[in-house]
Amino acid sequence: MGSNSMAILLYTLLSLFVSFISVFLFRRTDRRRRRLPPGNLGLPFVGETLQLISAYKTENPEPFIDDRVSKFGPVFTTHIFGEPTIFSADPEMNRFILQNEGRLFESSYPGSISNLLGRHSLLLMRGSLHKRMHSLTMSFANSPILKDHLLADIDRLVRLNMESWTGRVQLLDEAKKITFHLTVKQLLSFDPCEWTQNLMKEYVLVIEGFFSVPFRIFSSTYRRAIQARTKVAEALSLVVMERRKEWENGENKNDMLGALFNEDGNGGGFSDEEIVDFLLALLVAGYDTTSTIMTLAVKFLTETPAALAQLKEEQDEIRARLGKMEGLQWEDYKNMPFTQCVVNETLRVANIIGGVFRRATQDVNIKGYAIPKGWKVFASLRAVHLNQDNFKDARTFNPWRWQNNSNTGPTSPMNVFTPFGGGPRRCPGYELARVELSVFLHHIVTGFSWVPAEQDKLVFFPTTRTQKRYPIIVQPRDMSSFRQCKDSIEAK
Ligand code: HEM
Ligand SMILES: *[C@@H]1O[C@H](CO)[C@@H](O)[C@H](O)[C@H]1NC(C)=O
Ligand SMILES: *[C@@H]1O[C@H](CO)[C@@H](O)[C@H](O)[C@H]1NC(C)=O
Repeated sequence: MGSNSMAILLYTLLSLFVSFISVFLFRRTDRRRRRLPPGNLGLPFVGETLQLISAYKTENPEPFIDDRVSKFGPVFTTHIFGEPTIFSADPEMNRFILQNEGRLFESSYPGSISNLLGRHSLLLMRGSLHKRMHSLTMSFANSPILKDHLLADIDRLVRLNMESWTGRVQLLDEAKKITFHLTVKQLLSFDPCEWTQNLMKEYVLVIEGFFSVPFRIFSSTYRRAIQARTKVAEALSLVVMERRKEWENGENKNDMLGALFNEDGNGGGFSDEEIVDFLLALLVAGYDTTSTIMTLAVKFLTETPAALAQLKEEQDEIRARLGKMEGLQWEDYKNMPFTQCVVNETLRVANIIGGVFRRATQDVNIKGYAIPKGWKVFASLRAVHLNQDNFKDARTFNPWRWQNNSNTGPTSPMNVFTPFGGGPRRCPGYELARVELSVFLHHIVTGFSWVPAEQDKLVFFPTTRTQKRYPIIVQPRDMSSFRQCKDSIEAK
């Protein structure tokens, strides 16, 4: 930035500051009267948004919150993205916020995100409709369904994708392809084909729109995303119309769309538009989250060779028992104790969803603080997971810490570990995501060895991801070692 523009910027900031100082002073006294959590509202309008953004350009996972927690304690007031906001890094407060969804708080997303999601998406729904759709999603992604129905598809589609891996692989891109095709299969029973490929192309543009939020609502990325959303919605509508005809003739498929046709609740069924929004929301909710967690698990394991070795041993044993081609069974999934430690530790360190935004629907008093009606609240899940008081050496990837977690005291890891949120909006895909990650890990460690192709860095803003989509060089593993292992097990 030239010194001229710097001066203009400073001047603008200064004049903003001066002209609104009275508003600012008013807000300060206002705050004292209401016993808001301590904190700093920063400059008028911009508040602390610039500090927030610059803080997260570093590799430190929680600079903005760390800084303020050490100054003000775990609950503090700030001003970001145009609104005063109360931050909580306190597990008890977070639980209170999540549990009181729909009573004292409601989820609150910026308008730009609503446009992309569609009016009827689960994330934006409230009240009884939300309850109905949430439980419907749970009934489609719960363990009996996973066990009887979804696991076989997951196993097959993960394997199908990995069959084409040679040399350099952009791990995040592959994980995204896997996740997208898995979701389309689960929702609509489509196997990967030209139609799903085309859908994915448009869909990727919609997702890019999310990353341009909330800074560039007038940008071309955002406009393209809205156009792409229309195309994706049209493609989905055609499928819904076809399938509805089939359903009216007494045919149905065993997938999410089928479940939506069968569910008529009190309202006499869902409209096509509602169904399309709902499908799109599920596609969005599972895509980035699951593919990023797959990529980061591999990154953390690569950087922790002892953990990778132990995971390999566990998975090789399963593969040796099954033989080369057999699919994973539910019993195999249930019998991966160390892998489950790796899954939890990856969720804890990665914090794909760093926290959730809510809005107070009335004045709320909690822990000696008053949260005014209408204020934004941010419950930081990440700050709790990365706090030394809750997890020893909290910022180190250590899957073994999950091995002996029988303690159930108030600070036991189980009570503060909430990677999937909590309360009425707890992620309905939590079990599905765990199964997908476990199957992915099984096939990558039994099928390949790899080395990172380049240094890649974890960044946390605006979302958790690696800068270079984690490129690795893969090599198929020599199957003779499986056979030896299998022989030795059979000899026992
Ligand atoms: C590692 C993977 C995942 C993580 C970390 C994750 C995390 C979360 C979190 C924290 C929430 C709560 C948001 C809030 O309270 O405002 C949420 C909501 C949601 N998740 Fe996930 N999720 C994951 C994968 C999935 C998958 C695979 C699906 C597919 C079914 C899914 C579907 C949803 C839906 C539909 C919601 C909205 C629930 C509601 O508002 O009632 N998620 N997720
Ligand atoms: C992983 O975390 C879940 C809670 O999300 C817990 O129920 C489970 O027991 C944990 N697994 C291990 C191996 O600690
Ligand atoms: C867990 O317990 C076993 C035996 O009870 C012990 O050998 C191991 O060191 C413990 N691991 C941790 C991380 O505390």
